[in-house]
Amino acid sequence: MSQQRSSRQDPPHLVVLSGAGISAESGIQTFRASDGLWENHAVRDVATPEGFKRDPALVLRFYDQRRRQVRKAKPNSAHQALAALEQEGFRVSIVTQNIDDLHERAGSRHVLHLHGEILMARSSVDERLRYPLTKGGIALGDLCDKGSQLRPDVVWFGEAVPYYMDACEIVAGADLLLVVGTSLAVMPAAMLLECAPSGIDTLLVDPQAKQLAPYGVTAISKPAGQGVPELVSLWRREKRLW
Ligand code: APR
Repeated sequence: MSQQRSSRQDPPHLVVLSGAGISAESGIQTFRASDGLWENHAVRDVATPEGFKRDPALVLRFYDQRRRQVRKAKPNSAHQALAALEQEGFRVSIVTQNIDDLHERAGSRHVLHLHGEILMARSSVDERLRYPLTKGGIALGDLCDKGSQLRPDVVWFGEAVPYYMDACEIVAGADLLLVVGTSLAVMPAAMLLECAPSGIDTLLVDPQAKQLAPYGVTAISKPAGQGVPELVSLWRREKRLW
């Protein structure tokens, strides 16, 4: 899905880096609560390979619950505005840290999931063995084709981020970078900003934008459901990006 930076005759390329905040108004909780808990579980218990080894049933139950939440959620006006922009002929690529499918359900076609997808299962011994979860979840004893336990196809803390280089290449092809709803607290996702070509504009839409925006990034302190459609309307009216 890699898209290159525009040559003179191409439409400009908008790259969006989204985080949990873009799905907050769809009812999916963000992660970084001040108490370090995810729905009453310590991150190390439910989102690390060690936690899975210790208590796989707990981890599978935790992701089943989150999967149910994702299936019930609907894309909000931020997801929809980005998809509409693409359908109108703008070049839009999305690199998301989210494991939900709300960008795709809104209609975006170029989406890279840096931290995996909750609607996919994968083998615990071979990350290339992936299976869509069209309904239901993963139970203890559900095995991959190599006979090992299935696990959610998500990247846990302490694991490699397999698509990082692809994501970096996409960001390197941006004419404008729009960052939405991420605390930029997790590596290597936060490093993706460094992949952008020098001199391009970077915008951050997040209620905490003023506090979070690194030097040189334009802060738009609004929720995604308001800030993103406003930007999209502006680009549509002007028939050009920022
Ligand atoms: N609109 C936009 N942003 C919002 C909204 C909203 N309505 N509500 C909250 N936010 C912002 C918060 O201000 C915060 O900056 O969303 C951000 C969420 O930050 P995190 O919970 O840290 O989520 P994220 O940055 O996506 O986390 C990165 O860490 O836990 C891991 O793998 C997980 O992908 C995740 C990664």
